[in-house]
Parts: sequence; structure tokens; C-alpha cells
Amino acid sequence: MTKSRFPKGFLWGGATAANQVEGAFDQGGKGLSIFDMVTFVPKEERKQIEMDVKSEAELEALLAGEKGDNFPKRRGVDFYHRYKEDIALFAEMGFKTYRMSISWPRIFPNGDELEPNEEGLAFYDRVFDELLKYNIEPLVTISHYEMPLHLVREYNGWEDRRVIEFFVRYSKVLFDRYKEKVKYWLTFNEINVSSLAPYIGSGMLVDRLANQEQSIYQALHHQFVASALAVKACHDSIPDAQIGCMLARMEAYPETCHPDDVLAALEADQRNLFFTDVQVRGQYPTSMLRYFAKNGIEIKKLPGDEELLAAHPVDFLSFSYYMSMVASGNPDKAKDKGNFFSGIKNPYLEASDWGWQIDPKGLQTTLRKMYDRYQVPLFIVENGLGAYDKVESDGSIQDDYRIAYLSAHIDQVGAAIESGVEVLGFTSWGCIDLISASTSEMSKRYGFIYVDQDDYGNGTLERKRKASFHWYKKVIESNGADL
Ligand code: BG6
Repeated sequence: MTKSRFPKGFLWGGATAANQVEGAFDQGGKGLSIFDMVTFVPKEERKQIEMDVKSEAELEALLAGEKGDNFPKRRGVDFYHRYKEDIALFAEMGFKTYRMSISWPRIFPNGDELEPNEEGLAFYDRVFDELLKYNIEPLVTISHYEMPLHLVREYNGWEDRRVIEFFVRYSKVLFDRYKEKVKYWLTFNEINVSSLAPYIGSGMLVDRLANQEQSIYQALHHQFVASALAVKACHDSIPDAQIGCMLARMEAYPETCHPDDVLAALEADQRNLFFTDVQVRGQYPTSMLRYFAKNGIEIKKLPGDEELLAAHPVDFLSFSYYMSMVASGNPDKAKDKGNFFSGIKNPYLEASDWGWQIDPKGLQTTLRKMYDRYQVPLFIVENGLGAYDKVESDGSIQDDYRIAYLSAHIDQVGAAIESGVEVLGFTSWGCIDLISASTSEMSKRYGFIYVDQDDYGNGTLERKRKASFHWYKKVIESNGADL
């Protein structure tokens, strides 16, 4: 067997989010979350991203049950009741870490209460105890698209500065309660999604916004301040903890070597890295300040905000990586929808059934580029292949395509480490099949563990080991040498 390129203590594991696995949306005192309101839309009727509620009227119609009753994120995959069985399977694969999120409305059902919900806190105590029983380190996202719905209705989410206070109260409750159990924290999942999907990212209904772009950046400023305050609170309360930010990383390639395309790629990259520039370097980059000035965007900052951002940068940078994108200097081309986020197809890459362009080498490029820029440890907290799986007549699931995808990506992580990048760990997304964030499908599967459930909630919820389960166990056992 070849020698491992991964450092000793590398954190191998898997990742999920509360809203995509827990279910039990109305049990244990939990309030409604933003994702509890998103219904399943069949593929034929679906546009590319189907997760944002856009207006007050739409939200009221959803609450009144006028848009059907298939809310997949309300049922998840019943992790709430089956966490012991699921964690035992993670332990069998040899997980060193498990990335999960805490459902904010399980702890503060409305979000603006003064006292937390004890039943919610006790649930996560049980989950952490179960993980620690197997020496699995919890890596906890404080906010993963799970804002209490009440904060949307009453405050229009992060548009309102008072939400900072609610978030910081919630974070402090978590740090105080779990200080002995959780040493790795993340503030906001994919903070940049706030600029693409204002409801899921920032809890804002766009029909309430007079100037959408202005509000998006104002809401983000509030999240940056909240994140800095959470970093401070985490360090104060748990001195041996590490807390990071989290970005949906979009590595942008120029479509050609035409200087206009090269500039377009640079600009796409600057827009994507703006978020981590603030959270890692502790200040707004000049390129964004210029963009704001040029576009008449005025961020209202309070005295002391800038000092806070500078004083409390994150300890590490985590990110999701699923695909790369192509940038063109020709504005007409950007309209061609070849990939999930940007428009243009890369002729050198294959894509998943959902059009996500598969680019393992791009992960190495991204790791090296970000490490050059920030010089802080990096953590890949999401990577994986959403695919249709088939249960064979003998009950097995032969997901060789998933093994090929992950093997190629992990190999590139090894190459980045060899080149000098400091990487803390790798948690593959959806280590157990879960509800898709963007499409609410169950049939878009990422897991090493198959869950018997369909898009309409039919199924026994039985868990089965896929071929990739046995493969990933070997990867972890060999510390990434046996891919
Ligand atoms: C990330 C999210 O955007 O990608 C996850 O943090 C999400 O919540 C994952 O599930 C994969 O996306 P999707 O839409 O395939 O579930």
C-alpha cells in the first residue's frame, strides 16, 4: 500500500444538517424553521433552484396548507429517533468526526425568546454523548439554513439588526452548554448563499425589500458582525475550541486565455472570496467597497463594527466543494445555463445528473489558492456526488460512481497537502442519504448509508450499507492511502 499523504489526526468523517436529517419538526418543543416551509416540486415542474419562499402571500399560503402537504424537510430521515443506529454506522466506518448542525428553533422555537428550550438542548446532549462514546469529534454548524420562521415573519430575518442579539444569545447558550463536548464549531453554513437565495440564506422575503441588493449586503453585514461576536464568545467560553467560517466555494476558470475572460474569472473569484475575506482577514476587501460605491450600496455600520470584525477573525476556513465554474468576459454567454450557479459549460468536464460539473483537480486548485491567500488551516466540510441509486435484487447498492467521484477528489486533497496546504479534515456531504437542500428530493442521494424512503415519504426508513460504505472504511483505516 502507498504511504499516506494525510497528517496524523486528520479528521475524516461525514456531514449533514439538522433540517435534512432530523425530521420530528414539531416534537420536543421545536418551532418552525424556514426550511420546514419548502415543499417538494416534481422534476418536470422544477426550475433550477426551488428553495426560496419569495413573498408574504406565498408564505401565508404555505402555512395555510394551500400548496400541498409534501414538506420533505419536516420528515428528514428520522435521525431524531434513529441517531443511535446512525452514529453506530458512522463509527463502523471509523469516522473521526461528524459534522452536524443544531436546529436553531429546537433551542429557541421563535428565535427571540430569552430562555432556551431545555428539551432541545437535552436532545443534542444525547447526540454528542453518543458520538463521544465512539471517539467521534462533533463539528457543529450553528446555523445551517435553519432560522426560526418567526424571525422571518416578525423581523424579515437578517435585514433587522436585532437578529444579531438573538443569534449571539443562541450561540452563547450552545457554547456554555456543550463546552465539554464540542471543540469544533462553524458559524454560518455557506454564508455566500445569502446573496443568491435571500430567504434560505438570510431569512428575507424579497417582496418586502425596497432595494434587494442593498438589503442583501446589509443582512450580510449583520451576519458578519454576529459571526465575529460568536467567535469571541466561543473563545471566551471554550479556550481550547476552534471556530471557523463556511463558504460555498466556486472556483472560476476563464473560458479562454482572452484577457477579458481572465478578468471575468478574477472578478468572479473576488465576489466568491469576499465573504471569507471579511471573516478570515477581518475587513471588507477594497474591491467590494468599490463595488458598493459604484452601485450606490450603503452599508449601515455602527461604531465599533469594524473593530469587532478585525478583532475576532475565525480560526480556520471551511468550505463546500462540488464543482467549478467558467467565467466569460462576454456578458451574453453568462446567460447560458450549463452549470448550477454560473452559466457556461466546461467542455473538459462531465456533469452529474443535476448538471453539477465534476472537477476533482479544481479542488486542489482551490485549496492551494485559498491557502496562499489566507494562510489559515482549511477544512473541506462538504464534497460528494448526488446520484440516483438502485437497490439490486440481492439488496446491495453498487455505487461505484460515488466511489470514483470521492476517490478522485480525496486524491487531489492529498496532492494539495503534499504541496504544503494545511488541511484539518474532510467530511463528505450526506454521509447518510438525506433530503436535498436545493430540490427537497430524497432520490438525490449522497450517502454511504442508504435510507429506504422516496420523494413522497414512502418507505421503511431502513438503513443499508452501500458499496461506498466499505470503501470509505478502508480510506479512513489507511488514513487516505488506500483510495
Ligand atoms: C450545500 C449545502 O449547498 O450543498 C447542503 O450546505 C446541501 O445543505 C449540499 O445539501 C448539496 O446540495 P443539494 O441541493 O444537492 O442537497
